[in-house]
Amino acid sequence: GLETIAPLVRSVEETPEPISTEVQGTIPSWIHGNLLRNGPGKFEFGNRHYNHWFDGMAMLHQFRISEGRVTYMSRFLHSDVYKKNSEQDRIVMSEFGTLALPDPCKNVFQRFLSRFEMIEPTDNASVNFVKYKGDYYVSTETNFMHRVDPENLETLEKVDWSKFVAVNGATAHPHYDPDGTSYNMGNSYGRKGALYNIIRVPPEKSEATETLHGAKVLCSIVPQHKSRPSYYHSFAMSENYVVFIEQPIKMDLLKIVTCRLRGRALCEGIYWDGGQDTVFHLVSKHTGEVSTVKYHTKAFATFHQINAFEEDGFLMIDLCCSDNGQAINNYLIQNLRKSGEALDEVYNSTGRAFPRRFVLPLHVTSQTAAGHNLNTRETCVKTDKDTVFCQHEDLHGDDLLEFGGLEFPQINYGRCNTKPYRYFYGCGFRHLVGDSLLKMDLKDKTFKLQRPAGALRWTPVTLVFTPHSRQRVVGCLQKRLLTSTDDLCLFRQVLDGRLPELGRANVPVNMPYGFHGIYEA
Ligand SMILES: [Fe+2]
Repeated sequence: GLETIAPLVRSVEETPEPISTEVQGTIPSWIHGNLLRNGPGKFEFGNRHYNHWFDGMAMLHQFRISEGRVTYMSRFLHSDVYKKNSEQDRIVMSEFGTLALPDPCKNVFQRFLSRFEMIEPTDNASVNFVKYKGDYYVSTETNFMHRVDPENLETLEKVDWSKFVAVNGATAHPHYDPDGTSYNMGNSYGRKGALYNIIRVPPEKSEATETLHGAKVLCSIVPQHKSRPSYYHSFAMSENYVVFIEQPIKMDLLKIVTCRLRGRALCEGIYWDGGQDTVFHLVSKHTGEVSTVKYHTKAFATFHQINAFEEDGFLMIDLCCSDNGQAINNYLIQNLRKSGEALDEVYNSTGRAFPRRFVLPLHVTSQTAAGHNLNTRETCVKTDKDTVFCQHEDLHGDDLLEFGGLEFPQINYGRCNTKPYRYFYGCGFRHLVGDSLLKMDLKDKTFKLQRPAGALRWTPVTLVFTPHSRQRVVGCLQKRLLTSTDDLCLFRQVLDGRLPELGRANVPVNMPYGFHGIYEA
């Protein structure tokens, strides 16, 4: 049976002032920066509790590395929903997996009427730390983000995407050009149905008080089914293209719009349709033009891309893929708090993700003959006027199967994004949460593994890549399951791909398990 992970999904207190950590080994004095992480940290108000892991109130964490020491602090995001819930000591607003109950102070008629109101989008930005125009924001997938101060984790300003561009949200995984221009994607819902939009935010402010000013929709893509657009958690970007992956995780808009009326949570409007292809849409970053050629492949689900780059007329796109897209609702809190056989059952019904590469030919025209292989790897065939069918190439050997596949991939973004690259990192999933740290070598598709002994787990990887010219260090968080405390572990990057440990800092407070973050030197 799998070990219980219930301690990783319980509410914790904040640590609003920096506290010191116990350092073992050596943290080189030339590493200087902040590791910022985000994730849910409070799962109940009064006698009400959230149902889904993603619903918990955003907690921001800061690990400051300086002069061989590490301090830690954390704060809850002061979102409107956090403030309202705290004031009324109940769950006031609905989240992804939790439908808020009507206000008990309203009379019966008012409560009946409130069922016909649409669910208000949450501003509980619990997924990631992101940057726009040099400012730090925390983000979820709705239209609301919060600008925050990375030094003291204070909530500064609520920002609404829909005030700047006609979108109803944006992902928590933007991409960045080297000059700081950011790209993101968000849906819009008009009278004719949904559209997928690609958004560009300029790299710099013209005035100090600006937020998303100057953001533009670069292009809009029509979904295959307008009332059932695909859910997407992220997208890919190469030097010249934005790549949108339309996967068969579908959003039933009718169900979503009527969820309050039907007394159901929003997450129940999302479903997996494994009978449909996954489709890659290519968009030129320069012209905003959507390629008429669509690259189809058999159904897979994806949450995180690894990298994408162009080489010799092909676009290589590497991503973590799962043949089963039913995972989202497995992350209900009640599932994560199970133990014994019941917990094993949840794990066994959750799809595993594996790193795969698709090699998309860029020069397909009406003259291109159908039925022939379009790349040397024999994985692409033009099947129709505007359709190329692609097969993937595995970026791993069979040995990855026994480590539960790989998710939460990370590259050295500043150095490798949109370029040919050799290494990436991720978490192995022999449990519902990451339990090993993997360093993959694309040269021979092997990996190096850090598998902690006993009640330790790796959290999803946020890498601390130092810009130091002579030595490179990679840092990751390791979770102590018994105490819910974390170790920030630093490894030296050596040429043969090994990961010898330099030092670690043990944080002496309870921390919940988080999803994403960034490191800023
Ligand atoms: Fe993510």
